[in-house]
Formats: sequence, C-alpha cells, structure tokens
Amino acid sequence: MTRSLDMMQDIERVLVTEEELHRRIREMGAQLTAEYAGKNPLVVGILRGVVPFYAEMALAIRTPCQWDFLSVSSYAGTESTGTLTFRKDLDIDIRDRHVLILEDILDSGRTLKYIRELLLERGPASLKICTLLDKPSGRTVELEVDYTCFTIPGAFVVGYGLDYDDYYRNLPFVGVLKPSVYEK
Ligand code: IMP
Ligand code: MG
Repeated sequence: MTRSLDMMQDIERVLVTEEELHRRIREMGAQLTAEYAGKNPLVVGILRGVVPFYAEMALAIRTPCQWDFLSVSSYAGTESTGTLTFRKDLDIDIRDRHVLILEDILDSGRTLKYIRELLLERGPASLKICTLLDKPSGRTVELEVDYTCFTIPGAFVVGYGLDYDDYYRNLPFVGVLKPSVYEK
C-alpha cells in the first residue's frame, strides 16, 4: 500500500508534544539516577517500539549501567492477538542484577506480565518497570509498574516509537491515530 507523504493527515490530535516528552524523560532520568546510584543496573529495552524512549532515557540515567534488549510480540494491527511470541532473549545473565525494564506503552498488561514473570525466574536482585505511556483503561491483567512517564486515555496512539502496521514510529510526538486509518 502506498503511504501518504503527509503522516500528519492521519493524526487526529497530538497527545504528548516533543517538548513534554523531553522534559518528562529528563525528570524521570534524574529520579532513576538517584534510585540506581551504586547498583550498576541492567537497563532492558523491549524492542522495537521502545527505541526512541530507550535512547533518550538511557542517556538521562547518569549512573554506570549496562544495556540489553529483548523482543516479544502480541499485536496484529490495533488488536492484541493474545498470543505472545518471544523473538529475542537477553544476552546478559541477570542473576543477582538490578534490572530496570523500559517499555513504550502498557495497555492490557499482558506483555509486561509475561516478561516480568519470565525474568523473575532468573533470580535478579530486583526487577522494576518504567513505562513511557500507561493506558489504564485497557488493563485486563493485574500489573504494577514502578515508574510511569505519562498516563493517557484509551485511544490508539502512534509516534515516538509507537506504530500502526510498523508505520508512524518516526513521528517525533505521541498522537492519536484517526480511526479511519485502521477501520478500512
Ligand atoms: P499489552 O500487552 O496489551 O499491555 O500491550 C503492550 C504492547 O502493545 C506495547 O508494547 C505496544 O507494542 C502495543 N500497543 C498497545 N497499545 C498501543 C497503542 O495505542 N499504539 C501502538 N501500540 C500499542
Ligand atoms: Mg511494544
């Protein structure tokens, strides 16, 4: 399918601006720097939507840390398929490590619940979750996250790493996608 050159045509409204993203991530980074000082955390990113958030947050965490990534998938289009596929495991052993998971968005909670349980079995010293966005209205499983940058309403959003059909990730803000885009 040919994509319109103007991605903005498909955006209903901007939910979180570039400035708001940068400001909040710097603020959260300062908090995480203080909380992880002396703990040499392993910062784990959940690919691929987390990439812009990870890049910005990992530079805002100013204490010695290591980076690693894992990849799971639960979505097809705008609907969770309910089936999680584990595509890439971590490279680093997390036993006795302080692990901080970074995720782009928490919706039903299934993805993070699955990853959390999987990693807890490996015996980390601690395991915490920091999400850029939280959509509490979408929750179907119980899950506690430790750090949330923004709480948002229950609309399908794209940009700053978040995709629809793997597009729109490169929008520099978080915006609500026009339902007409996926209701075709
Ligand atoms: P959960 O397992 O339902 O919590 O969904 C988490 C994953 O679903 C995220 O990592 C995203 O990849 C995807 N997701 C959930 N809501 C949205 C959205 O509004 N826009 C884009 N992706 C989303
Ligand atoms: Mg994701």
